Amino acid sequence: MCGIVGYAGASSSVADHGALDVLIEGLRRLEYRGYDSAGVAVVADGAIHSRKKAGKLVNLENVIAEEPLPQSYTGIGHTRWATHGGPSDSNAHPHLADGGKLAMIHNGIIENFAGIKAQLVSEGAEFLSDTDTEVAAELLGKMYGEANGDLTLAMQLAVKHLEGAFTLLAVHQDHPGLVVAARRNSPLVLGLGDGENFLGSDVSGFIDFTRRAVELGQDQIVTITPDTHTITDFDGNPAEGKEFTVDWDAASAEKGGFPSFMEKEIFDQPAAVADTLLGRSDADGRLTLDELRIDAEELTKISKIVVLACGTSAYAGSVAKYAIESWCRIPVEVELSHEFRYREPIVDENTLIVSISQSGETMDTLMAVRYAKEQGAKTMSICNTNGSTIPRESDAVLYTHAGPEIAVASTKAFLAQITATYLLGLYLAQLRGNLFQGQIKDILADLGKIPSKIQDILDRSDEIKELARSMADASSVLFLGRHVGYPVAMEGALKLKEIAYIHAEGFAAGELKHGPIALIDDGQPVFVVVPSPRGRDSLHSKVVSNIQEVRARGAKTLVIAEDGDDSVKDFSEWVFYVPETPTLLMPLLATVPLQIFACELASAKGFDVDQPRNLAKSVTVE
Ligand code: G6P
Repeated sequence: MCGIVGYAGASSSVADHGALDVLIEGLRRLEYRGYDSAGVAVVADGAIHSRKKAGKLVNLENVIAEEPLPQSYTGIGHTRWATHGGPSDSNAHPHLADGGKLAMIHNGIIENFAGIKAQLVSEGAEFLSDTDTEVAAELLGKMYGEANGDLTLAMQLAVKHLEGAFTLLAVHQDHPGLVVAARRNSPLVLGLGDGENFLGSDVSGFIDFTRRAVELGQDQIVTITPDTHTITDFDGNPAEGKEFTVDWDAASAEKGGFPSFMEKEIFDQPAAVADTLLGRSDADGRLTLDELRIDAEELTKISKIVVLACGTSAYAGSVAKYAIESWCRIPVEVELSHEFRYREPIVDENTLIVSISQSGETMDTLMAVRYAKEQGAKTMSICNTNGSTIPRESDAVLYTHAGPEIAVASTKAFLAQITATYLLGLYLAQLRGNLFQGQIKDILADLGKIPSKIQDILDRSDEIKELARSMADASSVLFLGRHVGYPVAMEGALKLKEIAYIHAEGFAAGELKHGPIALIDDGQPVFVVVPSPRGRDSLHSKVVSNIQEVRARGAKTLVIAEDGDDSVKDFSEWVFYVPETPTLLMPLLATVPLQIFACELASAKGFDVDQPRNLAKSVTVE
């Protein structure tokens, strides 16, 4: 939630970038984090110059075109997902304080802002917005006086009063060439350039300018100038960040000729799965993890796995349950992070927590992981974002290599997450001796064939798009699935809700007769994900019966089935065949037509599929 960029450069630097260009480019990349309003502040000619506007970034650009900013090499920029105060011009960031000499932007929620505001008001402060950020800015202005004009020291003094989650960035008119930032429970990454330095909510905030990045820790303050960066804790003690090189470039974050990022990312999926599999196993199929700070022997003692995630990532966890339980014979619970955290869950040192998060910053998941750690559990992170908080705080990490995912609705990260959970399941089976090495090798070989099978589906996407366009007026769509097809049905429904704003529900096909069948009316579209007829026969025949049951009640049945499954033809209005694959791996294929369907239907309705209303990609507040 909220995208943040900071820049300190100089006209003498090799690159000679103007602050505004850097900030706008960074905000364009970070807009997926929130797009209610946007704003920038630059330091030039001994003053702060700020522009901000409700709505998407383009509105801010129009304002700047009408009222240009002076040339500057220092600035901060923000794109907002509203928490305190609605999305208006006045609530947009930056917020000014100290008589307009200081500007601040913020991502997070300052929980004790009301008390601080009352105190500042009693001292004569006046506020122009409803935000908690303006309170923090005013507080920083006050501390600036107490710190005798030292902006970094002022930040140290200010954050001591703040509770909650925040990344704060500030500039002051008396300090051209300097940006100060503080972070607690909200993301912030440092970018290192040649004679210029950057700050961003994530690396995409500066990927156009540098791939050298530094992970920052919890409760740290960082001050950047064109040539230096200084990291301390909140008390001013020196601290270190961990430098890394971003393994993708700006071109990977472009649409590449597709009409939307979402469609491009759907088409990136063969590579996302292939790259996630790459280099993880040797010729005998022996697997390794990226970072393992848990004794392998301890992993063999695990008696329970709890998968924690939100949104699409939680459905990847639901798929993982079937595979890991089948391969490792360890009980796997899958729980939404926010539900887990607040119900006194029973976990101990024999519990392995597997968090799944594309961003690595989802606040509910982060808090749940921290809670589990406190209870003594071991924690493993499956994550797509290097340098993010959840993998940094976990005992083991398995990165998905989906590349940057920009569209708010997750697609390629989902398939990469499922792939990573399969690798994890096979790794545990290998460690614990649940599968023979030859069996692991065979499953890896089947996984290796998945990318070309996804490509086969993508090559036939026109069939799905045509159906989607014909259904642009649908007001409700149901999705049924069984076994691993159940989370696929849930994900299919979520995609449609998220981007097409159509009422959509996913159900376990076995639940049909316990309620959902009452929803079936004449013409009600129902997608059915049919298991392979080559798998357990009872599964397949039961789902085929479900198709007949809903059809008999007037449903329009839209079926995803395996190549060669003729049994569904007579009961379906429309069938899409996916290539044969072992049942447990089927979600990597069956999900793809549902993603294409949602994307095309939402586009046909004229919606912005990359930035759906009310959503943000990275939910960094609870
Ligand atoms: C938001 C996004 C979803 C995503 C979920 C979890 O709701 O819109 O696409 O699945 O957060 O995000 P994470 O980064 O933890 O996977």
